[in-house]
Amino acid sequence: MTAVTIPGLEHAPTNHARLLAWVQEVAELTCPDEVVWADGSQGEWDRLTKKLVDAGTFVPLKKKQNSFWAASDPSDVARVEERTYICSVREEDSGATNNWMDPSEMKAIMTELYRGCMRGRTMYVIPFCMGPLDAEKPMLGVEITDSEYVVVSMHIMTRMGNKALALFGEDADYVPALHSLGAPLEPGQQDVQWPCNETKYISHFPESREIWSFGSGYGGNALLGKKCYSLRIASVMARDEGWLAEHMLILKLTSPENKAYYIAAAFPSACGKTNLAMLEPTIPGWKVETLGDDIAWMRFGEDGRLYAVNPENGFFGVAPGTDYHTNPNAMRTIAKGNSLFTNVALTDDGDIWWEGIGDAPAHLTSWKHQDWTPDSEELAAHPNSRYCTPIEQCDIKAPEWDDPKGVPISAIFFGGRRATTIPLVTESRDWQHGTYMGATLSSETTAAAVGKTGVVRRDPMAMLPFIGYNAGDYFQHWVDLGKRADADKLPKIFYVNWFRRGDDKRFLWPGFGENSRVLKWAIERIEGKAAAVETPIGYVPTADALDLEGLDAPIEDIEASLAFDADEWRAEIPLVEEWFAKIGEKVPTTLRDQLATLKQRLG
Ligand code: GDP
Ligand code: PGA
Ligand code: MN
Ligand code: MN
Repeated sequence: MTAVTIPGLEHAPTNHARLLAWVQEVAELTCPDEVVWADGSQGEWDRLTKKLVDAGTFVPLKKKQNSFWAASDPSDVARVEERTYICSVREEDSGATNNWMDPSEMKAIMTELYRGCMRGRTMYVIPFCMGPLDAEKPMLGVEITDSEYVVVSMHIMTRMGNKALALFGEDADYVPALHSLGAPLEPGQQDVQWPCNETKYISHFPESREIWSFGSGYGGNALLGKKCYSLRIASVMARDEGWLAEHMLILKLTSPENKAYYIAAAFPSACGKTNLAMLEPTIPGWKVETLGDDIAWMRFGEDGRLYAVNPENGFFGVAPGTDYHTNPNAMRTIAKGNSLFTNVALTDDGDIWWEGIGDAPAHLTSWKHQDWTPDSEELAAHPNSRYCTPIEQCDIKAPEWDDPKGVPISAIFFGGRRATTIPLVTESRDWQHGTYMGATLSSETTAAAVGKTGVVRRDPMAMLPFIGYNAGDYFQHWVDLGKRADADKLPKIFYVNWFRRGDDKRFLWPGFGENSRVLKWAIERIEGKAAAVETPIGYVPTADALDLEGLDAPIEDIEASLAFDADEWRAEIPLVEEWFAKIGEKVPTTLRDQLATLKQRLG
């Protein structure tokens, strides 16, 4: 081993040989000024948030204790799907929906990018655990990063530092996740508020379970425990080991009879997961508690049911549109402080503001650091601006949210953002039909990813940007899991759409807390208590099958939101055929049969 004298390298708090060798290797490649092992302590949080304030990256909020405002570089505001790669050994294992590059080719390119990339910065080593620390097999990872913003975000979003490192022993398996902003500093060079690099790569090596990220400091591109580990790499582990890693919220719904049900729901990014997870029911006697708002890992329990665990420790929620009417529980959670706000607007008295939170003050600092007044043409907050806040301080977290056993799921909802065609709610006939619904899910693109918004695309199981392998194999995995369990123990699958619009573009369904009416109907279907009409696309409620007591919305709108329109569905068929053709020969026969049946039923 070459004797490199980088301060901090010599006192590593672990005897894990593979980890030590990797840290040494990365330090030698990236040449940081020093190496720091993140311990997850309050002292570390205080030190790093102060460092970020001094650097101009953070502004401390006067109105929220221990909370900070940050604005990113305008080129670094969302996940970069075009720059995200699944570098499986064989190209066909990445499939038509992912970008692919040969792993050794990618590693050669990125090694050159990483060479000296941490000069003038500190390299942090963050041991972390996705999911409960007391899991039978804790899901460990280590992120190496040169971003303090990433370290403090990981404090909120993951279980990290010493409490995670304690689980490593001398040889535990972990996912190595390397991240750099790609913004080295020359001696004496003044840093910018949001360092990043124009060149970005978010690369995954599924066979060796490694993550290499370069050039971005934001969200899922940089907090590698989230999308990279818990979805892309975990989906590969799940395929190999017979479980599911999904882009799903987890909620607990308790009926007036005090019976509890757990529901998981997959909607594409910025399509309502966080809001549904924290929903405040408008129907009396029903209660919602939150277990997770973005990711669910689901494994079969000994009783044959699917049990879900949230691998995360915090919420990284879309800010715009969040207020005391739409999502009071998120507002109460962030009001407690200890939170980060990125790309929202800053008020003159040191609070945060975004579109949809209420009246705009006379003057703001926009996410672009510019003066903003209500007359300004531009948005004050970026549409993908986010709050980052601990689950722990959410008043409606379910007591079992941190239970390693997970919770047994009764219903799975798939949903998307569709102005037409897709009814408010449809119940699948069985698991295979539900899998078809998921596999053909479609949604309008949103600001959560870089690119044009409002374009309808297929987003299977809301996992299009997150499936770490071939989408056809992923569909087959869903089909196969359904065959493994007793049909009556599997969750019932529903397809929802809160976003259908009327002729004048208004939303037909009021959404948010009113979505509890749909949850109630779904549970009553499971209990055999609610009515539905059978249509070619599945079981759909009529307006009088839903509890609409006290709902302040025109009945014609509700009926239009529920309507099944055969012509609209016939128009969907060629799009599904095109989609299956894109996936290719790996589309499971079961799903082709589902499509054939649907065509036949539509006539
Ligand atoms: P996530 O990214 O999937 O977690 O989605 P969020 O829950 O953060 O919501 C994304 C955006 O959709 C926000 O602007 C919300 O205000 C909006 N939204 C969420 N639920 C509903 C709903 O039921 N109806 C309507 N119209 N908008 C919603
Ligand atoms: P979201 O999470 O699903 O809450 O938008 C971030 C993302 O998916 O990019
Ligand atoms: Mn997400
Ligand atoms: Mn969310």
